[in-house]
Order: sequence, then structure tokens, then C-alpha cells
Amino acid sequence: MVTATAPQRMVISRADGTPVEVNAPSRREFLYYIWGASIVLLLGEATAGLIWFMLPRFKEGTFGGTFNYPPAEVPHAGGAPLNTPEGRFWVSNVENEGLVMLYAVCTHLGCLYKWSESNNRFECPCHGSKFQRNGRYIEGPAPRSLDRFRTMLTFEDGTTAVTNDAGDPIPLTGRAIVDIRIDTSDRIKRPGRV
Ligand code: FES
Repeated sequence: MVTATAPQRMVISRADGTPVEVNAPSRREFLYYIWGASIVLLLGEATAGLIWFMLPRFKEGTFGGTFNYPPAEVPHAGGAPLNTPEGRFWVSNVENEGLVMLYAVCTHLGCLYKWSESNNRFECPCHGSKFQRNGRYIEGPAPRSLDRFRTMLTFEDGTTAVTNDAGDPIPLTGRAIVDIRIDTSDRIKRPGRV
């Protein structure tokens, strides 16, 4: 025979100090409450983690994100490369090769190299590494040619071109560029001094 047990009563105080008698939760109810609170907490943490994961880590136009570079500012083929310090890249338009975005940090020990107009090449002030305008190693202690950022070009006719996995310059072949996206989160390292 099953016998029902009367709920236990307990006394609590109101805000004004008046005592009031209420039903105390049973052991089972208490465990349900704890279990429910744990589930809600876990779901909250999982949701917050998912939102954080889906948020872009870097804003557009800041280093680590994507840069929208103005096509009108691209140097002419064979012209002096242009530095974009906020994106840490040089824009270099190489005659007979095309457009390449070079990471502005030397591959030796991380100094910022400069363009030397008189010598027509990049030169690092720290230990003297030299690089061609397409980023290729010339001389010095640098272990590899300059790194490049993957770039997507959109041309006037609607076609697009993306930097290949070797980081070679994108051929322009006389086509007018209407949009340039440089992904500074996608750095391509050359395998050596090539
Ligand atoms: S850091 Fe550039 S040559 Fe050493």
C-alpha cells in the first residue's frame, strides 16, 4: 500500500520580519531545480561560445583582416612600390609579371624593409638583405624571399583573379581593375630564396 507523505513545512520571514509558513521543497524537487539550473547554465555558455566563434576576429581595414585597396592608387607597372603601414604591406606592380602585395616585414629577423629608388630594390636596414620588386631574394641573411598576402582582383569585364598558392604576382595584361581585396590573414611564404 502506498502512503502519501504530507509536504514538510518551514518558516521564513517576510521583508518586514513577519514569519510565514511555506511548503519546503522535497528532496526530488530540489534536485530537479539544481538539474534545471545546470542545463540552463550549460546552454548559455554554449550559445555565448558559438556567438564569439562566429564573430569576425578582425575588422575590415585593420591588420589581420581584409583591406579594400583603391585601384586608382596602384602604382603603374615598374613604378615605385607603395607602402600601406596600417596593413603592413607593399603594393608592387611588376613589369611583365603583375600585381603583388608583399608583407612589409623582413623574412630574416622581422625588421621593416624599405624601397630604395636609387637601387631599384627593397633593402632591409638591419642586416642588409635585399629583394627584387616582386619580393624575390637577392642577397643577405634572409632565409627566403618576401612573404605575400593573398589578393583578389576584380576587373572591369567582371572577371576575377586570385593570388596562387605560390604567391606569384597576378598578371594584369592591360585589364582595368575595379576592386582589390587584400587578405592580411592569409600570408603566403615562399619555400626559400626563390
Ligand atoms: S631583419 Fe632584415 S636583414 Fe635581418
